[in-house]
Amino acid sequence: MTLVLNTLESGDCSEQIKALFADKNEEIEIINTADLKIMHCMGCNNCWLKTPGICAIKDEYEIILKKLVSVENFWVVADTKFGFIDYRGKRVLDRIVPMLNMYIEFRDSWERHQLRYHPLNFGFIYKGNGNRELLEEWSMRVARNMAGRSLGVISLDKDEAQENIAEKQFETAATPVENTTLESAEHVIIINGSPRVKKNSNTNKIIQAFAEGLEEAGITHKLYSLSNHAEWDEAREAFITNDNIIIAVPLFVECLPSLLLEFLSTLPTERKQPAKLSFILHGGFDEGHQLRLGEKFLQSLPAQLGCSCSGVLVKGGSFLLRNRENSYIKKMTDKMLASYTKMGLSFARNGSFSTLEAQKFTGPEKNPKIGVILFNLIFKRIVKKNFERMAQEWGCTRPLNDKPYLAQQR
Ligand SMILES: Cc1cc2nc3c(=O)[nH]c(=O)nc-3n(C[C@H](O)[C@H](O)[C@H](O)COP(=O)(O)O)c2cc1C
Repeated sequence: MTLVLNTLESGDCSEQIKALFADKNEEIEIINTADLKIMHCMGCNNCWLKTPGICAIKDEYEIILKKLVSVENFWVVADTKFGFIDYRGKRVLDRIVPMLNMYIEFRDSWERHQLRYHPLNFGFIYKGNGNRELLEEWSMRVARNMAGRSLGVISLDKDEAQENIAEKQFETAATPVENTTLESAEHVIIINGSPRVKKNSNTNKIIQAFAEGLEEAGITHKLYSLSNHAEWDEAREAFITNDNIIIAVPLFVECLPSLLLEFLSTLPTERKQPAKLSFILHGGFDEGHQLRLGEKFLQSLPAQLGCSCSGVLVKGGSFLLRNRENSYIKKMTDKMLASYTKMGLSFARNGSFSTLEAQKFTGPEKNPKIGVILFNLIFKRIVKKNFERMAQEWGCTRPLNDKPYLAQQR
């Protein structure tokens, strides 16, 4: 069976989408998500550690999760913004996380979460001015996370000539502007793009450590957290009126969280004065290559927001930063946070992340073969036990690889 989620406003392009599947000899269901109440993933992790497989947000996304359990092919139709899937489309993908479970394994030599159910193939249909190369790589990464294959990327703008023009326009807009000659700043605006509440946010821990380095060098900062909607107006105003801005953001389903994509789409693209925009991008898995697509997208953003790009600081392995009760984990996370403080100092000195020091900060791109072997032989079981202990502390009463919706189908 094939499930198609049309996230376009009021189920736009319905006939065109139906026509795309007309000659396919399979059962197709198309759902217009504009008719459903679907919120952003808030990154609470309950679907992994408290109520395995069940999302804590009680909106209408559960209808989709229940369907995904019996689906082989999964397509998302969405509009594009900044050359990438827009926030409405990304939102339905960020919420897919309950289809995986907390346990970690190596698949196709990448760190991955285990499937809760079965492999899912993934395809993307888009409207507007998409960066096809970026979208193709992203779709492939999403499919691989679900142990499936990419079904491809299709543009709804059929006119080939027009599409070529659209892509050229995107390329022009995305060409990074040369760094402006702004002297290194005395004041920096930092935006936390995580949907997770500030007190639980790993991004917040990173920002605090990084800001210690800034402060040591005499640079002040003001922080805005997008998880608190009440701060959006002020954050927008700060973005428009300041000349040195850092957005710190966790990787969500291979790119930015839908919440941050929504915030960015409300910003003006023209600025009255130049500004430098830099990013701190981090993710749960520790391998550098997991973050590279997100990095590529972020590098294309500043020019599209009327800013110059001052680099992307990339680092994985942030999943446990907020979990500091266990003394072994605390030792590990203290070390990582201290390295962010150093990067704060480095940013204060250089005014950017376009340095060798920042490049080295990412660490290894992938785990060496011996690391994978040791993980499978020894660490996999230790990590599993740790997750089970965490789940117990969270009051979880079900196995972490529970399949709640499969049980309901029987
Ligand atoms: C919905 C969701 C999707 C995620 N996707 C990825 C991913 O694709 N790759 C990755 O390395 N980490 C991924 N993570 C892990 C987060 O990037 C990581 O836990 C980060 O530390 C969260 O920071 P925060 O606490 O500030 O939200 C994901 C987490 C969530 C909740």
